Amino acid sequence: MSVKKKDDVTGTETTGHDWDGITELNTPLPRWWLWTFYATIVWGVIYTILYPAWPLVSTASAGVLGWSTRAEVAEQIAEAEAANADIRAELISTELAAISEDDALQNYAINAGAAVFRTNCSQCHGQGAQGAKGYPNLLDDAWLWGGTIEDIAYTVRHGIRNEDDPDARYSQMPAFGDILAEQEIATLVAHVQTLDEGADPLEGEGGQLYADNCASCHGEDAKGMRELGAPNLTDAIWLYGDSDADLTTTIANARFGVMPAWGPPRLSEDEVKAVAAYVHQLGGGEASAPAE
Ligand code: HEC
Ligand code: HEC
Repeated sequence: MSVKKKDDVTGTETTGHDWDGITELNTPLPRWWLWTFYATIVWGVIYTILYPAWPLVSTASAGVLGWSTRAEVAEQIAEAEAANADIRAELISTELAAISEDDALQNYAINAGAAVFRTNCSQCHGQGAQGAKGYPNLLDDAWLWGGTIEDIAYTVRHGIRNEDDPDARYSQMPAFGDILAEQEIATLVAHVQTLDEGADPLEGEGGQLYADNCASCHGEDAKGMRELGAPNLTDAIWLYGDSDADLTTTIANARFGVMPAWGPPRLSEDEVKAVAAYVHQLGGGEASAPAE
């Protein structure tokens, strides 16, 4: 063991190490530094007692204050919901057609509706509601089932051709592959191709087949029928495509597009109204029928 000595020049204790007359001083740490160091140890111990800290088998020690990041988030969500509670109640009690008359309410409905749309509708109708093959574009004014805010809210609430909601919008185009000959279907495909160019739906051989088999749903003018969700065949807007192959499949097999029902409990009442208001103002919304 080395002997501790004092350095003559500084008066500081040395470590006892000596290299060719050069000694190593054992300068003590400054007092302020030491006390700060001890204070951080005490603080650390107290912290691990108060807050979640020590890893355990599947969780961590909880800390006596019971603080958790999850609880904090839940509290913030509850606060945000409480802040919106009034306007949500107002949305529920306001008639659909009257929402747009109140700027603050309309503003809230559009923002909340856009969020509902992004979460629940965009996977089928597209981020911008532009639609995709089989999923209608909601930006234009071509509506299968109707474009008033009441029509839209009904579609959202009950859905289309689903099994879950007995009030779902429902209609079924027959699969004409079982009913007509291949040649007749080919004639109809060629006939349908002419309709968006302004041809008379009832003219010629195709027109005869159309009148007998199709006009009951798509109309003698081929402009569709909303009560049946039967699309307008004259507007150059094709849900399922207008190539010969697409039209042959549509007519021979029929399509049977299904949309889930979004009424409570899936979405809350105010969310249904908000998303209807959002879709209605996207571009194709129609005016509500005047109240009686
Ligand atoms: C699983 C896919 C799917 C989801 C999710 C979905 N839809 Fe649809 N939606 C469809 C299909 C398919 C149709 C067309 C059905 C038909 O052929 O009539 C449709 C039709 C509609 C229509 C009627 C359009 C018209 O021309 O009359 C509206 C409005 C609509 N959807 C809104 C919504 C809203 C709002 C949401 C979200 C709350 C939503 N949809 C979620 C598949 C979906
Ligand atoms: C019972 C009513 C009904 C009858 C009859 C009917 N359709 Fe349809 N048709 C519909 C409905 C409803 C749709 C929408 C189907 C869907 O979205 O699943 C549709 C869709 C279509 C489409 C697709 C349109 C698009 O935008 O892609 C074409 C084309 C069409 N029908 C042609 C015909 C022809 C041709 C006939 C006669 C041979 C016919 N339909 C008979 C109800 C009918």
